[in-house]
Amino acid sequence: MSRGHILIVDDEVSILQSLRRALSLEGYSVDVAGGVALAEEKLDKNAYDLLVLDVALPDGDGVHLLEKLRRSGNDTPVVMMSGHATVDAAVRATRLGASDFLEKPLSTDRLLLVVENLLRMVRAEAEAKTLRAETGRGSELVGSSPHMVALREQIARAARSGATVMVRGERGTGKELVARAIHRESKRSGAPLEKLNCAAVPHDLIESELFGHEAGAFTGATKQRRGKFERATGGTLFLDEVGDMPLAMQAKLLRVLQEKEIERVGGNETLKVDVRVVAATNRDLEAACEAHTFRADLYDRLNVLPLVLPPLRARREDIPELARGFLKLVSAANDCSEPTLTAGALDALMAYSYPGNVRELRNVIERLVILAPDKTIDEGAIRTCLGTSTAPSAKGLYRPGIPLRVLLEEAERTMIDEALRHHDGQMAGTARALDLERSHLYKKCRALGLRD
Ligand SMILES: Nc1ncnc2c1ncn2[C@@H]1O[C@H](COP(=O)(O)OP(=O)(O)OP(=O)(O)O)[C@@H](O)[C@H]1O
Ligand SMILES: [Mg+2]
Repeated sequence: MSRGHILIVDDEVSILQSLRRALSLEGYSVDVAGGVALAEEKLDKNAYDLLVLDVALPDGDGVHLLEKLRRSGNDTPVVMMSGHATVDAAVRATRLGASDFLEKPLSTDRLLLVVENLLRMVRAEAEAKTLRAETGRGSELVGSSPHMVALREQIARAARSGATVMVRGERGTGKELVARAIHRESKRSGAPLEKLNCAAVPHDLIESELFGHEAGAFTGATKQRRGKFERATGGTLFLDEVGDMPLAMQAKLLRVLQEKEIERVGGNETLKVDVRVVAATNRDLEAACEAHTFRADLYDRLNVLPLVLPPLRARREDIPELARGFLKLVSAANDCSEPTLTAGALDALMAYSYPGNVRELRNVIERLVILAPDKTIDEGAIRTCLGTSTAPSAKGLYRPGIPLRVLLEEAERTMIDEALRHHDGQMAGTARALDLERSHLYKKCRALGLRD
């Protein structure tokens, strides 16, 4: 697979030919344009990693083209070149965000070096951005229970092996965190980690999300777009909620995993892929295979290294460490001092069952930090908070002193949030369950004389 897609814009055919040859030999895929109009047409249709742009072109000015691109929000890195570079043009180009300005006659070696460094820098920046985002979220797996110790060993082994990994576990148990840790500890960590949530993408778009598409492949595909497999080249593709992948797509994914080749939707070029796949699901895939809603052959392909995350209630000894970790993170994120937990508060936290697992614990702590009137969190505060931490039941909902309207609105919001997390078929089931729960809730409130 290509090391990057580059567009060279110059009106001298000999320059286009020699640069195309030199860059292609280094493993880049190269497109050329002899003027501004053709360049604009190509930029409209294709996605490039880098633009090499001459200043003086027969039908316009390269610096103007750069300006137009930036104004339209296109931030593809640009290397300018010119045979009669004026200081003014160089200054204007640099102000507009050109990454480098090369004088003609060009030294091919110098251009290759600039291109390589630039693309490396772009990748490093993307990686740094992901890392920064992860640091804010808390990317370390916290916990010292035997379960967690074993899990860390499994992650290290999976990271070393390069095999396909299947991460299983209830919602909120840390499947994504584990997938990210496997990538981070693997020798692929310098290349991207791409994620596709198979439950969140409309079924008819999954294929183009995964494999990309060519311009005009379907209505709305105005521009060539690279898919997750291509973007993850050399790195890892995290297929989240893989159990929700439609059957037709499962067959295509299986073929890609077997043949290690993809074709963009609407394209006829075959591209080699070098990507490690980590999949995750909270569904019962064995039952899905029996019900023929998940292909058994794909299951076998993905399940090479199975990794099962225990629910939080099976490792309660991790709760204090997790709670303290979240207190620190959330207080720092909200710019407030860190509250302390009383012994009673810790006992109450440890006694709870956490159907939403670690995510629920984190949400509880978030709410406590934001709402804590003073900086000590006691058992009472925990109990009040836990009463509303899950999809509410009439019993958990009632809190003296808070107007019923507010409580019902809050309950409704939580239900809507829950419903939005699900998709298609699941959505219908969830909505029915929530409807039932809601009517039950209103009935109960009426019986309690709380309905106004
Ligand atoms: N062991 C852990 N240490 C620290 N934080 C954790 C741990 N496990 C989970 N978390 C946190 O809990 C939250 C949920 O984790 P994550 O998104 O990885 O779960 P998940 O299993 O993918 O959930 P879902 O099935 O709902 O997608 C995140 O905020 C994550 O940082
Ligand atoms: Mg997840």
